[in-house]
Amino acid sequence: MAEDRQTEMRGAFDAAAADFTALGEHLWEPIGSATVAIAGLQPGDRVLDACCGTGASAIPAARVVGPSGHVDAVDLSGPMVDELRRRSGDLPQLHAHRSDVTAWTTGDYDVVQSALGIFFFPDMTAGTDHLIGLARPGGRVVFTIWRGDAMAAAGRRLGRAIAEATNTPPAPPRPPHLIDQVNQAGTFAAWLTERGLDDVDVTVHEHALTMTPEVAWLVIVGSGFRGGLEKVPADRRDAVREIYLASLLDDGEPELDATTLIGTGVSPRRRP
Ligand SMILES: C[S@@+](CC[C@H](N)C(=O)[O-])C[C@H]1O[C@@H](n2cnc3c(N)ncnc32)[C@H](O)[C@@H]1O
Repeated sequence: MAEDRQTEMRGAFDAAAADFTALGEHLWEPIGSATVAIAGLQPGDRVLDACCGTGASAIPAARVVGPSGHVDAVDLSGPMVDELRRRSGDLPQLHAHRSDVTAWTTGDYDVVQSALGIFFFPDMTAGTDHLIGLARPGGRVVFTIWRGDAMAAAGRRLGRAIAEATNTPPAPPRPPHLIDQVNQAGTFAAWLTERGLDDVDVTVHEHALTMTPEVAWLVIVGSGFRGGLEKVPADRRDAVREIYLASLLDDGEPELDATTLIGTGVSPRRRP
């Protein structure tokens, strides 16, 4: 079941890669830059960017560490990795890899960072523990997740549009997930502390998108929501788009909450 979900998630990001970049300036890049700012990177650092997508945090990280540094950027999706390579030709210190980062074995990084990725792991706790183990003792880890219900309103609106356009019942809500229990600053900090990290801190990064028609549709086709659309028969997708955009206009182009929590910690110098 977990493997089915991972295959579905990869398919969504494979299909989304080009639109993912287009959405970047509105969504992924401000969040990626905030993640890198909090990571406190130094020139010459060795960095693992896990779940790199098209490089919203990997590219600014590569700029900060400079030519004497090294960034391994790892993503499951081949099209996302191809897009990142296309965008980072001027950054030889950035090495993009198509791989499951929960099985990545290179370690001893000064910083391990992952923006909006860890909740996709089939086992979020085991995958995060694996990433923490890839930081050197005393190295920093930085994990960014959505706060609370952030972004969910767009998924609900898409679900209603799909149901209406295909004349089918709305899809059931997704099953409960660990992320539902750790998506506030306090609970996220407690969960990171349980992972054995020192000096845990969580920063709230407020962000909102004005849902103009262009941005609102990019939110669907340039993100994991793409997976829901891909299941709709091709000849009904235009109808989904029209219904989805009309409902936004009816609501006066509302803002979409895209606030994130950026959690940091230090890998213990001596492992227990
Ligand atoms: C929401 S995107 C975020 C991408 C990027 N970090 C950003 O902030 O723009 C999540 C990414 O995680 C990747 N991903 C999910 N599980 C993964 C895994 N086990 N190994 C590597 N990449 C993974 C997906 O392919 C997707 O590109």
